[in-house]
Amino acid sequence: MGARRWARLCLLLLAALTLWVLLCGHHRAAQGPRTPSLLQQEPPPLEPGGVSRDAGSHGLSREGSVRRRVPSKYSSEPSKGEPTKEQAGRCPQSLVSTVKADPRFGKLFRFRIPVLMWEQHFTPDTWDRLKERSVPYGWQGLAYTAIASAVLLLNATANSWLVDRGAFPAGCVRCAVVGNGGILNGSRQGKEIDAHDFVFRLNGAVIKGFEEDVGTKTSFYGFTVNTMKNSLIAYREYGFTQIPQAKDLCYIFIPSDMRDYVMLKSAILGSPVQEGYDKGDDPRTYFGPEASAKKFKLLHPDFMHYLTARFLRSEIMNTQYGYLYMPSTGAIMLLTALHTCDQVSAYGFITDNYRKFSDHYYEREKKPLVFYANHDMLLEAELWKSLHRAGIMKLYQR
Ligand SMILES: *[C@@H]1O[C@H](CO)[C@@H](O)[C@H](O)[C@H]1NC(C)=O
Ligand SMILES: *[C@@H]1O[C@H](CO)[C@@H](O)[C@H](O)[C@H]1NC(C)=O
Repeated sequence: MGARRWARLCLLLLAALTLWVLLCGHHRAAQGPRTPSLLQQEPPPLEPGGVSRDAGSHGLSREGSVRRRVPSKYSSEPSKGEPTKEQAGRCPQSLVSTVKADPRFGKLFRFRIPVLMWEQHFTPDTWDRLKERSVPYGWQGLAYTAIASAVLLLNATANSWLVDRGAFPAGCVRCAVVGNGGILNGSRQGKEIDAHDFVFRLNGAVIKGFEEDVGTKTSFYGFTVNTMKNSLIAYREYGFTQIPQAKDLCYIFIPSDMRDYVMLKSAILGSPVQEGYDKGDDPRTYFGPEASAKKFKLLHPDFMHYLTARFLRSEIMNTQYGYLYMPSTGAIMLLTALHTCDQVSAYGFITDNYRKFSDHYYEREKKPLVFYANHDMLLEAELWKSLHRAGIMKLYQR
């Protein structure tokens, strides 16, 4: 146990050092040539057809992706969860302005980066560029027809945005991102979470029996096919027998593998998976009977590259496990929200005192958080802490 603590301390120091080196690197990059990086070149700025919140409003969609309704099934006073008129107005201070005023994060964030991949991004140039990078940062080794047949189905304008900002004229989009950390056990944050305009959840997001702690509302569910199917197996005993489903709920595919593109295509078409690892799966068992393009969103490989290179460039990438590394699903969802919403609160994410809590909020007996080589949870912990300190987001801590 002592040796493990020591190893963790070393990792923490290493993470801090990485962050420091990264910061200095960015200072230097502004003046001189870039230091070579493991990841290839930075993604280019916004492509044609890209949607950025800096670009102003882009028309009201009739679909209207806004959900202000708080499910009353579990809550005795649902009206308390509704945002008041005042709350629905302008943000006291928007995330973008806080970021821009911050010496460190002002240099890291690029709000014009396209978050989602959709039909209009699928150009020969994009193909040529992304085929040089491996998943989740590109399409290296993946068949053109398989990628094209999935991405070209994402042809609704709703596939280009997560939040229809036209529905929030000069307003403030408030998002909660709910990780599955043990810190939420007994937290009683459910009402506060549900009071946000949008609630992001991911992987083994058990709700039944934990409504008081984690709320009931889900606007977005984020996953890779691998993490989704693993969650259904691993957390079945805690009641995670189904992926969250609801009429207005949208699914965010993380493009970590060919499987994600193949499943996405089947999900939109509402037909069984035709090929590969998940062949024969009926996507409706995961996502419900409604198969329409606008229900499904796909993160842009450039966005994956950008968030890893700028926010979560881990030392692990330089080890023999480098090829396994990617930011955790929770980290990807939280960074997605930070590039989408005007105000972000994170619940159930790793904090300094994570040893006090179980791995997940739904475990019956305390299980320590296990560190695997494919993620860098301590680097993520440092990032959340810094973003919280900088006032860019609120990290739930206790
Ligand atoms: C999207 O593509 C589908 C299938 O090719 C087609 O039926 C539909 O009309 C297209 N929608 C838009 C908005 O272009
Ligand atoms: C969750 O909280 C309850 C009540 O506070 C406690 O009895 C239980 O041990 C906790 N579960 C875990 C896994 O820590």
